[in-house]
Formats: sequence, structure tokens, C-alpha cells
Amino acid sequence: MMKKVGVAILGVGVVGGGTFQTLTEHREFYRQTQNVDIVVESVLDNNRARAMSIGVPEEILASSIAEVVTNPAVDIVVETIGGCGVAKDFILAALNEGKTVVTANKELISKHWHDLERAAKRNSCGLYFEASCVGGVPIIRTLLDGVQANRITHMMGIVNGTTNYILTQMTQSGAEYADALKEAQRLGYAEFDPTADVDGFDATYKLSILSSMAFHTKVPYTKIFREGIREVSSKDIAFGKELGYTLKLLAIGKNTEKGIEVRVHPTFIPSSHPLASVNDSYNAVFLTGDAVEDVMLYGRGAGSLPTSSAVVGDVIFAATHSDIKYSTFKNTATADPKTKFVTNFESAYYIRLLVEDKAGVLAKLTGIFAKYGVSIVEIAQKGEGENGRLPLIIFTHKTAENSVKNVVAKINASDLASVQSVIRVEA
Ligand code: HSE
Repeated sequence: MMKKVGVAILGVGVVGGGTFQTLTEHREFYRQTQNVDIVVESVLDNNRARAMSIGVPEEILASSIAEVVTNPAVDIVVETIGGCGVAKDFILAALNEGKTVVTANKELISKHWHDLERAAKRNSCGLYFEASCVGGVPIIRTLLDGVQANRITHMMGIVNGTTNYILTQMTQSGAEYADALKEAQRLGYAEFDPTADVDGFDATYKLSILSSMAFHTKVPYTKIFREGIREVSSKDIAFGKELGYTLKLLAIGKNTEKGIEVRVHPTFIPSSHPLASVNDSYNAVFLTGDAVEDVMLYGRGAGSLPTSSAVVGDVIFAATHSDIKYSTFKNTATADPKTKFVTNFESAYYIRLLVEDKAGVLAKLTGIFAKYGVSIVEIAQKGEGENGRLPLIIFTHKTAENSVKNVVAKINASDLASVQSVIRVEA
């Protein structure tokens, strides 16, 4: 007789609703291809009318988490509520009743992975979270299995669709940030309060999970340098474009001899880089391993059915495997004291200035760069001047972040020029 596996879904909003749809519509397909009958046995949602409107039969609508986790027909609990409130309590309740959990919750995994994994281990349950990072793009399974042979040295990702949509609009049509954000909100990409996306929090949660897995050590999201896109101007995007660069909000992880370097910030990359053509709400992760060299995964990082693809992939894995894989490192709340983190990281820089138009000013300016050991690659004059000052763009060689901060402070304190913007550049 074919094995039957019961699933409960907690929260049937965008992702949970897509998960219900995929599991229901593909039930026969999975019976044929996976030799397992995966049945949605229970759904919990405060909004019963919403659940029924997407086809959830009233008889499987539960009225409490206790009813779900004590239901003997439920083997796997899918959490698609989000956030760190009830979602955490519900997941712990499920694990403590011996149910395997599949979650799409990046904030919860990034902040409480250690607690959840401890409960999963104690109860010999699976804890799967493919959908927590980069939606439908199978990056977690790739890190867990596909590239395990490698020491991963670098990872660069466009892991947030909302900001990628906004930056693509600013790049392609010259829109200003505020207008591009409004359009993203109108299309339902950006939330009414866009903070989590535009200030880079969402990307840091994802980078914390991905870099912990890639580098086999706990990388708490608090260790990640974070700068969002609110201050990005379409002027800089346009100048960068003319000079052969595309601006992206990148999540960058590096495992170097000096330690682990993790950062999320707007970054110029050469327009010929494969990540430069990842546009709109699409996401991608580009990683480098010591054996495989470069690997790039591309696809939909959000959305109902694309994210349900990741959730249901985990459900199928859990339904068809009896062995359970946990993290490959000591999963504690904080970083391992032995892990070093690089804070004064090195990067190349794009610096836009308005410069006094007087003899000798350029020599004095470049003197400041030299004083702090910041080497200049290129100086370009772009755009209109202001109040008699000339617009200049300076590209630097790779240099320490603190040296650039010193240069910027020194220039701004002088009467030679004012710094208009500073953007990191990755090759
Ligand atoms: N708000 C996220 C994004 C969706 O814009 O990519 C899924 O994490």
C-alpha cells in the first residue's frame, strides 16, 4: 500500500495559500512520481473565510494549534505565518509533539534557528526551511547537498526582490527612489511599511542563514554590516551605468584568511557580471567553491507559487526520507568564539564629489587620498556642476573601509570639496 503522509498548514496567506494549491493540485502527480500520497489534513488560519475562499474544506479547518499538533493524521507541519511571534510557539509545539516542520520564515530561522534545531533534535524531527531564503530558488538544498564537497570562498546574492525591482526601475527609466518605491508598493512587491526590504533587514536574515551554511559556522545576522537603498540616487546609478557598472543591493559573504566577512549594501558590479542582468523582482545567488568554481542560481525569490515550490520540495523530501540532516556546525545563539569576523573590510569605491574649480585643488584632494593610502584608479568628470563646483567621480583600488571613511571625513571638513555619495564596488 502507498505510504500516506499528512500535512498541516499554519497560515494560508500568500505562501501558505500557494502551498495548499500546489499540494492539492499535484497530489496525483506526487503519487505517481514520488510513490507517496501527500494529503493536506489540517489548516489553521485566523481568517476562516479567507481559507475557505481558496478551497480549504471547512472540515479540515482547525481552531487551535493544539488541535493541529495532536492530530495523529498530521506528520508534517508547514509554518507560513511569518515573523517571530506565534510562529515560533507554533513550531515548537509541533516539534515537541514529534511533527517534522517545514517553514518559510527567514526572520525566525535567522534569529532562533538554534532553539528550533535543538527541539527538532530532541524529538528526532526534521526542520526544513528552503523557502526561507530566495523563494523558489533551491539555494538551501544546493548548500546542504549539491556543493558540500567544496570549501565555499565567496557568495554574492541578489536576495531581495523588492529592492531589486526598485533599483531596476531606477536604472532602466531613471526613476527616483521614492517613485520607484511607490510603484513597487502599487504592484504588491513592497509592503506599506517597506523597512524590512529597503533597509536591508530581509537580506541580512537570508545572508545569515546562507553564510552559516556555506561557511559551516554560525553567522548571526547582527554580525552583518547593513546599509539599505533609501539614500541611493538615480544620478549615481546613471553615472555608474555610463562608466560600465550596474547598481544592485548585494548580500556578500566571504570566507578569507582574515575571517568571515558578511555585508549587505548597494554595490556597483561590472555590467558584464552575470548578476548585473538579474532584473525586476528576480533573485540570484552566485557562489564560488574551491572545487566547483562558480555556480549561479537564478529565479523567483518571492511570490505565492514560486515560494510554494520550495515549501513543497521540503515536504516531499521529508515525506520520502527517514534520515534527518541538521546544521553542519555548532548551532548556538551567538557566533562561535573561535570564528573571526572581518569588520574593517576591503572594497573598491565609487566616490562622487563636488569640487572647488581652482588651481591646485585636485592635487590637494588626491593628497588626502594618498595620506590615507587610498589608491585612485580613475577620475571622471560627470554631470552638472553646482554653485561653481565641478562634479567629479573617483574610483579607488581595493582599500580598507576605515581608510575611505577617513578620506571622506577629511574632505568634508575641508573647503576643497564635498562628498555627495560613496558606493562600494565589487568585481
Ligand atoms: N520581501 C521579500 C523580497 C520576499 O522582496 O524579496 C521574500 O523574502
